[in-house]
Amino acid sequence: MFRRIEPPKDHVTIVIDGSEIEVDATASVAAALLGAGMTTLRRSVVNDQPRAPYCLMGVCFECLVTIDGVQNRQACMVPVRNGMTVALQRGARTTEGSDR
Ligand code: FES
Repeated sequence: MFRRIEPPKDHVTIVIDGSEIEVDATASVAAALLGAGMTTLRRSVVNDQPRAPYCLMGVCFECLVTIDGVQNRQACMVPVRNGMTVALQRGARTTEGSDR
């Protein structure tokens, strides 16, 4: 569904739900996940509906994921980093604000 117009010049490796993938070093987490074919980044709290990045500019909050153990990070606003761990969010978050 999503593909880059030009091939990336540099790659980093991130871990998504335990699986390593190589992504463009200049991408946001949301762009990297979309490029890897993952369109559902979280599930809604009330009805468990699949949610995908919508605005890609920090407005809609549909792209919330857990990054390096910190919940509710906006995937579209965070650049990828080598070794970063990302977990897709399902259901309600804990009140502590972290999975650690
Ligand atoms: S896609 Fe809208 S805030 Fe991230």
